[in-house]
Amino acid sequence: MSSNHRLLVKNAKQVVLICNSGEKYLTKHGMKNLCVIENGSIVIGSDGLIKAVGPAETIRAQYSEAAFDKVIDATGMCVLPGLVDAHTHPVWAGDRVHEFAMKLAGATYMDVHRAGGGIHFTVEHTRAAAALDLLASLSSRLVRMQRAGTTLVECKSGYGLELRTELKMLEVIEEARRTLPINISSTYCGAHAVPKGKTVAEATEDILQVQLPRLKEQMSAGKLRVDNIDVFCEQGVFDLSSTRSILQAGKNLGLNINFHGDELHPMNSAQLGAELGALAISHLEEVTDEGIAAMAKAKTAAVLLPTTAYILRLPQPRARDLLEAGVIVALGSDFNPNAYCCSMPIVMHLACVNMRMSMPEALAAATINAALRPRPLPHTRLPGGQQTWRPAGPQHHAVGASDLPAGRTSGARPLRRHQGQRR
Ligand code: NIG
Ligand code: FE
Repeated sequence: MSSNHRLLVKNAKQVVLICNSGEKYLTKHGMKNLCVIENGSIVIGSDGLIKAVGPAETIRAQYSEAAFDKVIDATGMCVLPGLVDAHTHPVWAGDRVHEFAMKLAGATYMDVHRAGGGIHFTVEHTRAAAALDLLASLSSRLVRMQRAGTTLVECKSGYGLELRTELKMLEVIEEARRTLPINISSTYCGAHAVPKGKTVAEATEDILQVQLPRLKEQMSAGKLRVDNIDVFCEQGVFDLSSTRSILQAGKNLGLNINFHGDELHPMNSAQLGAELGALAISHLEEVTDEGIAAMAKAKTAAVLLPTTAYILRLPQPRARDLLEAGVIVALGSDFNPNAYCCSMPIVMHLACVNMRMSMPEALAAATINAALRPRPLPHTRLPGGQQTWRPAGPQHHAVGASDLPAGRTSGARPLRRHQGQRR
């Protein structure tokens, strides 16, 4: 029997949507207004996009079940947009469980790093690991993330700190992007730490003169696709001036600037990111008022990482101040050997309890805002499908099940709370 539509999700206890009147991101007021349909249904068209969504009885009156390839009865369940994880370091070998004991005994993140552990430990093991082993562990981590609801994940390199291993990591990410049913945005993070035996100046020179030119070659030859450039801008890692040169060089290659800033010390990273037109800055535990104002003005997203503040007992990121100032606030798991969390629901929970975000704010931060992109990803696949997702607009777009731009909403424009007859 031929059918017109791919999927009907019917009779959900609640359908929660990000209100979408074409916004590519949400700030303070928009983040407060989620659309909740009590007893709702969703129609997914043959193109994989949401075609209609509304109260179950309205959808039932408009669509015959026989016209669907598949019907899911979501009675008693809540349907949410696909979650997006805006910051992860998922490619590495060698666990760092032993460092947990050191930290519990009082060592700080930088104490461990200066003693040659932390990122340096992971670099040693990742350099020695075979690409296939890295791909296997990456795949199982991505599967765990997907099981927790993540549909799009940003994945960084950064445990090579030299050309060969950085390329190996990016190739592993590219292979995962090609073969796994999860969307990936990839980030070159060759400036994640200063390699042992090198000065900041030497490390910066290597990135500018060796790593980035080779990356450019690989990208131009179509062998590698990289979306973003990252630097760990921090005391004892990359200072503001080396961060600026590396980010600017990445931007010149067409990469989006998306970097670690103002985490352990106020570095004026936020001001630098705003000045360079950064897409996003992560961490920001130590961001200043001036930095917040600069980010709001530049529309640079703040990627907040509550797992890191938790495990390192850092001051909480200033979510409320950032939100009040109108900054685009997003969330990420920061999955890495130090903060081992694959679950965006846990991240949202921590954001609510520790950073005092509301539940609607946390959901918007873990969906539409975390998916902020300055340019289309033409080959992006929908979870589980093989079809190409067509971006809605040339500027920013949201990816995943939260993506509604081409869909019509059934009987609700824009959707607000529907009090269904049946509860
Ligand atoms: O975002 N701060 C720098 N980078 C990571 C940690 C990486 C690691 O410790 O391996 C972060 O928390
Ligand atoms: Fe990180």
